[in-house]
Amino acid sequence: MKGVILAAGKGTRLYPVTKAIPKPILPIANRPTLDYAFDQLKECGVSEVCVVVGENEAVMREALGDRTANGLPLSFVRQVEPKGLAHAVGFAREFVDGEDFILYLGDAIYDRPLKPYVDQFRASGSANLNLVKPVEDPRRFGVANVEEGRIVKLVEKPAEPESNLAMAGMYVFGPQIWDVLPDLQPSGRGEYEITDAIQMLIDRGHFVEAGIYDGEWFDTGTLESFLATSRFLTHSYPVVGEGAEVSCDVHGHVVVGDGAKVTATEIVDSVILPGAVVNVSGAIRGSLLGGEVTSEADLVEAIKFGDLD
Ligand code: DAU
Repeated sequence: MKGVILAAGKGTRLYPVTKAIPKPILPIANRPTLDYAFDQLKECGVSEVCVVVGENEAVMREALGDRTANGLPLSFVRQVEPKGLAHAVGFAREFVDGEDFILYLGDAIYDRPLKPYVDQFRASGSANLNLVKPVEDPRRFGVANVEEGRIVKLVEKPAEPESNLAMAGMYVFGPQIWDVLPDLQPSGRGEYEITDAIQMLIDRGHFVEAGIYDGEWFDTGTLESFLATSRFLTHSYPVVGEGAEVSCDVHGHVVVGDGAKVTATEIVDSVILPGAVVNVSGAIRGSLLGGEVTSEADLVEAIKFGDLD
């Protein structure tokens, strides 16, 4: 079994921080985000990992090298433009080389092992297993209609969802996927959707199954979800990195990276990246800060990295 991680997105919802540090290597609870994916893939018994990168290629290669954090061989392929998940996975075809593989979205973090779903896929002999999770508002996800464990219909970000089961960012595929990708057309939003590719597998009579996930699942893409993930991973304890200096009161969930220096009246529910120098005459609340940040006022729900906008 091989592992493919999609990490070619631009991370625009965390700009400007992700202009300086690509989202897949942004430290979350003081570890690069992708380390959590590498841990999961290793536990699943994956033999090697390929990360699909985009214009962040050079920085990603430099930061990650040729082994994952837990020693798995690591390689990279470049998706020329971020034209959708199904488009991105196409670049990993040579790497996968006809084997079964796990497709993992680079911004997903789970608190439960994913191995049981790989075992389920192996035992059932399906063409594809998709992790799905019941959510309150499924409209911003791919949504699955499931009948007795079988996925019978999939729609990407439906305005009127027919079920509450969201596609939860982890997929296991057999080689059948490679036959449908060349026939895929761009969706209404102009992307080659992985949900449409899976719908084609269903339409062509393949067995596509659901793995119902009931643990915590985070997608680190927005400030709110980034802070929520960080809070969860640190069990809400404040984390102050090596050599960091914090000259104010700390409340709630706070992570201050190695070597960062923070001056403010107080810091609440915020993440300060390693090496940052932050000088605020008021308070810092609900923020993600890196580089040199100076402010005469409170910083509330701010995302800042030095001079970048
Ligand atoms: O988070 C789960 C959802 O992820 C699923 O429910 C949806 O069915 C699936 O389409 C996807 O939706 P998003 O719109 O949230 O995907 P996003 O654009 O955030 O991309 C997910 C990851 O894939 C992210 O780590 C960046 C990477 N990516 C994305 C695109 C569009 C690529 O590597 N290449 C791409 O072209």
